[in-house]
Amino acid sequence: MGEGSTDTPQGVGHGGGREASHVPVLLKEAIDFLNVRRGGIYIDATVGLGGHSYEIAKRLGAPGHLIGLDKDPAALDIARTKLESSAGVSPATADWPKITLLQCSFAEVGERFGKNFADGILADIGVSSLQLDDAARGFSFQADGPLDMRMDPRSERTAEQVVNHLDERELADVIYEFGEERRSRRIARAICRSRPIRSTAHLADVISAAARPMNSEQRRIHPATRTFQALRIFVNRELDDLRALLEAAPRILKPGGRVVVISFHSLEDRIVKDAFREGAKQGVYTVLTKKPVTASEQESDRNPRSRSAKLRAAERV
Ligand SMILES: C[S@@+](CC[C@H](N)C(=O)[O-])C[C@H]1O[C@@H](n2cnc3c(N)ncnc32)[C@H](O)[C@@H]1O
Repeated sequence: MGEGSTDTPQGVGHGGGREASHVPVLLKEAIDFLNVRRGGIYIDATVGLGGHSYEIAKRLGAPGHLIGLDKDPAALDIARTKLESSAGVSPATADWPKITLLQCSFAEVGERFGKNFADGILADIGVSSLQLDDAARGFSFQADGPLDMRMDPRSERTAEQVVNHLDERELADVIYEFGEERRSRRIARAICRSRPIRSTAHLADVISAAARPMNSEQRRIHPATRTFQALRIFVNRELDDLRALLEAAPRILKPGGRVVVISFHSLEDRIVKDAFREGAKQGVYTVLTKKPVTASEQESDRNPRSRSAKLRAAERV
């Protein structure tokens, strides 16, 4: 899998059980790199279930402002309860920041926020346990459900449309490009011959029959893992969104403000690495992480999902 040969495509059946995957990944490291200042303005671009946001909010105190974004309204509902209760103390009386939660893509930050607006931006990208564990959302091949995979239920493109309507060549390209799957052509051919495919279990069976593992690396993960990753990335335009966020970040950040990104596979990590390197070349960033920060042994044991996480951080000059 390119430079990240030990990558585990995120959250599709590698021991990240429901409890484990609810735990925010690289929490201490992310908060330390963000260097949260009391009274500051911070954007959590992927608020999810609010784990990272909660720690940011605690440090901001009453004069601060936390803006949480997510494409997924179900995640925002959970985050709202967590963040607006401030550990059972009434937010009106507690030392708790103003919280604004918005359902949108982080690709929109450039349009939504002005120049020198924020002291920090955090993005913990990818799929959440809430999404993975709900069979009805179709993210996982481990439970049968409709082929949906949309993080934002308002968006038009579903996995079912991609699987049943792309031509064989386009489908193979998607599986190769976003899943880094060497058996992409064979898998695409099998999918096209088995159409219509309406459920995750049917799709996983078709892929398993077409792509028998040929070596120990392929035996290590389920044959459908990379194809499911590819479909999810394509359906949600994940890499385009990430590029848009990274392009806008230097303008939105105040001088001295920080951007911290946690990614889960090599395609994303490469985009982050290149954006920070380019920013450093142009004199807008100081890169704070020469190499990506990864989970400690203890965190990896406690939360298997953290094993593939890579954190990079940069500071606005
Ligand atoms: C790994 S979870 C974040 C978990 C969160 N840090 C926590 O502590 O609970 C990733 C979240 O990002 C959201 N997401 C992914 N891509 C997004 C995008 N382009 N714009 C907004 N939200 C996005 C997903 O819907 C998901 O809820």
